[in-house]
Amino acid sequence: MEIKSFNPPLRTLMGPGPSDVHPRVLAAMARPTIGHLDPAFIGMMDEMKVLLQYAFQTRNALTIPVSAPGSAGMETCFVNLVEPGDKVVVCQNGVFGGRMKENVERSGGIAVLVEDAWGDPVDPFKLEAALKANPDAKLIAFVQAETSTGVESDVKALVEIAHRYGCLAIVDAVTSLGGSPLKIDEWGVDAVYSGTQKCLSCTPGLSPVSFSARAVERIKARKTKVQSWFLDLTLIMNYWSGGGKRSYHHTAPINALYGLHEALVMLQEEGLENAWIRHKRNHLALRAGVEAMGLQLLVKEPHRLPQLNAIKVPEGVDEAAVRQRLLEVFNLEIGAGLGSLAGKIWRIGLMGHASNPKNILFCLAALEKVLAGVKAPIVRGAAVDAAGAVLAKSS
Ligand SMILES: Cc1ncc(COP(=O)(O)O)c(C=O)c1O
Repeated sequence: MEIKSFNPPLRTLMGPGPSDVHPRVLAAMARPTIGHLDPAFIGMMDEMKVLLQYAFQTRNALTIPVSAPGSAGMETCFVNLVEPGDKVVVCQNGVFGGRMKENVERSGGIAVLVEDAWGDPVDPFKLEAALKANPDAKLIAFVQAETSTGVESDVKALVEIAHRYGCLAIVDAVTSLGGSPLKIDEWGVDAVYSGTQKCLSCTPGLSPVSFSARAVERIKARKTKVQSWFLDLTLIMNYWSGGGKRSYHHTAPINALYGLHEALVMLQEEGLENAWIRHKRNHLALRAGVEAMGLQLLVKEPHRLPQLNAIKVPEGVDEAAVRQRLLEVFNLEIGAGLGSLAGKIWRIGLMGHASNPKNILFCLAALEKVLAGVKAPIVRGAAVDAAGAVLAKSS
């Protein structure tokens, strides 16, 4: 068999990520590759740091993109901040909190789990009770935007509790960065990791991270070596330290970084707060359409994520068949439920560049058509108008 060039189908990505990549980002990635110690590349990396500091709303010097996906950003936080024997309170209200627990244990730490139902935010009272019961805890960790359920937890309140009990706070902002308010310095977050494939309209494969001065001190004071060579921040810090003295650590993913640079320039052009407002407005329009169709959202107000809408599958409907039909007929990707929510919800993403009125109206019309085709109990002919009315009011 002769294998030819791969030409992917043209989809609209409205699942849990990756979301549609902006054409400007793709064009930037096609620019000529240069050496990663080339002065021009180093200049671009210095700009990247400033752009990431803006996106995270921080002045943290250690603000960099890890050369690997969000999971590597997660691992960077845990392997550097957790030493063998350290106790870490991990809040779990979905899939990704579970991965944090794994990371703590694989770093030799002891995880104390604070659990909330999938679809509920992290409960600050439960966190406080766990910290009271574990005065030797050194860190807490939680997910701001739980992509598996579409719920947002209160970063400011949770970090404030952590600090009151002498702990540093690690926050997962993979799905929130660029989509929901996130203020690293104002809220005192000590370590944060994100991804590029969600609200930044960039390709997958990089993980922006940021560490406070307190977190850097903790890393420098470690008694044991970081168990991962690649993710050891004490080595990576030298590479990103600036001042033109960079030494080789690993070959940077050069063209992927051009893409992230462009995505962050676009975020700066739009304005971070405007991006947050756009995500919220578009969520309200989609919600109006979904509810007009007679469908229900999983998460209660005010904990709904604007960029990830979890919609309950109506009784008797084969959720996988609906997603397959949307993909085959409309080239539209939406997400399935994970874990205990598998088969029970669809996850419709409105992330980054994909969070726009055209996608909302298209998705509602396509979903209605497919659901009507399988005789699902829905209201027909109301969804697009309901969403349109919200968009008209807010434009
Ligand atoms: C909340 C959250 N954390 C972590 C990750 C892992 O990111 P990646 O798939 O880029 O490794 C994801 C990915 O969807 C996520 O949604």
